[in-house]
Amino acid sequence: QEDIFKNVVSHAKEYGFIFPSSEVYDGLSAVYDYAQNGVELKKNIREYWWKSMVQMNENIVGLDAAILMHPTTWKASGHVDAFNDPLIDNKDSKKRYRADVLVEDHAEKIHQKAQKEIDKAKARFGDAFNEQEFVTTNARVIEYLAKEKEIRERLGRSLGNGDLADVKALIEELEIADPETGSKNWTEVKQFNLMFGTKLGASAENAMDLYLRPETAQGIFVNFLNVQKSGRMKVPFGIAQTGKAFRNEIVARQFIFRMREFEQMEMQFFVRPGEEMKSYEYWKETRLKWHLSLGLGKENYRFHDHEKLAHYANAAADIEFNFPFGFKELEGIHSRTDFDLKAHEEYSGRKLQYFDPELNENYVPYVVETSVGLDRMFLAVFATSLKEETLEDGSTRTVLKLPAVLAPTKAAVLPLVKKDGLPEVSRKIIEDLKWDFNVAYDEKDAVGRRYRRQDALGTPFCITVDHQTLEDETVTIRHRDTMKQDRVKITELRGIIENEVSM
Ligand code: GAP
Repeated sequence: QEDIFKNVVSHAKEYGFIFPSSEVYDGLSAVYDYAQNGVELKKNIREYWWKSMVQMNENIVGLDAAILMHPTTWKASGHVDAFNDPLIDNKDSKKRYRADVLVEDHAEKIHQKAQKEIDKAKARFGDAFNEQEFVTTNARVIEYLAKEKEIRERLGRSLGNGDLADVKALIEELEIADPETGSKNWTEVKQFNLMFGTKLGASAENAMDLYLRPETAQGIFVNFLNVQKSGRMKVPFGIAQTGKAFRNEIVARQFIFRMREFEQMEMQFFVRPGEEMKSYEYWKETRLKWHLSLGLGKENYRFHDHEKLAHYANAAADIEFNFPFGFKELEGIHSRTDFDLKAHEEYSGRKLQYFDPELNENYVPYVVETSVGLDRMFLAVFATSLKEETLEDGSTRTVLKLPAVLAPTKAAVLPLVKKDGLPEVSRKIIEDLKWDFNVAYDEKDAVGRRYRRQDALGTPFCITVDHQTLEDETVTIRHRDTMKQDRVKITELRGIIENEVSM
């Protein structure tokens, strides 16, 4: 698994998808730049989301609120007081860790031990193996899984109660060591606020302390009534937004899974009080369907319903994805009640109420939110699409089997040789197709090597111009996944590509 993950990171760099930020200065931890192909893939994921949310739903509209917001926003939302991570320092190494993550990693290791036993038995018994039965009867596996559960539950309880001393006690009881040095000499656990601060204004006395937004959602809440009135929106309705968010994450690892600067795609859906659970269930199903529509495999998704709820929520679930390092949160669906709008009413002194003409009454709507990380979507799509294939002749190829709708480049046009007028014909094909699709030109190296390069970039089609093209205006079109080649008329190309890549 570690190897797969390393491959993902190096492929992303080698083929111009993702670079470490400011790499000439050795990079900035947990900050990344999207390169020439990455920016296209990311844009296509964003558009795929936007289309399904805004274009396809009459009662959902878009918004692009500013990253900088009035600082009282974050008092009202609870972020100033409660947006914290529990941190612990190792006294010997002076390294800082997230206490909850140390415990979770420990629990995960125990889980892996159980998994190892299961895998061993599976290999031994083959088809006759009944996993369900094994897990409930094998003493060692029962013990591991029970221990894992006990640890996770106790961690959840202590964090939920704000009992940081118990988190430390847990770390000591489990004899968790500094992952880098092995030392078990820990400090107390302390809360650390995740928001990045900055200043507005030039002079020191008058400068105002601001925060970079840690979620895009609050820009939607404070604009709720502006949008409702100017758009004559009727509850239930939604506001969708994509944009950057910032968190001073301490455990910054796992590539673009956990970043300090990242992008969210969020939608707040405003409903009548009392109708939030129906809406919550609807959005859970609808969002899972959206993910499944990308064809990355049903088995790679699962729901995780939260038992421990944030202060603003009365129900919450994650859609988890099977990343190269296991199942982790990809998207959150939260029933946020009227917590945020009420808080903004209280702190601003302004009413944020909706007059419901059918009920003939005013109320503060309840909110169901869907929130997915664009960078996490990128990682899910990219890592799952990256395949190493052994071909019939025994050779191997690396191919990025991206959903065609998301591929950065839809087709590459390749003249078989660099002479006899083939480059000119190729350029003419590009001139025609580029109005509708991202199309690339490549004439360097043997055509087989050019195919391999386009495979690695995830390009669904390669169009090859050869001498026959000069005679009958046909070309070959090669399909990335099957490597099958068809001879078609140049005039047919647009339709063939369109058919495959349209949303
Ligand atoms: N408005 C709700 C909210 O912000 P969240 O669970 O904190 O909820 C929502 O974040 C999503 O944003 C997550 O499911 C994840 O996909 C993404 N996300 C959160 N923190 C992130 C980080 N440090 N790096 C990348 N993506 C992150």
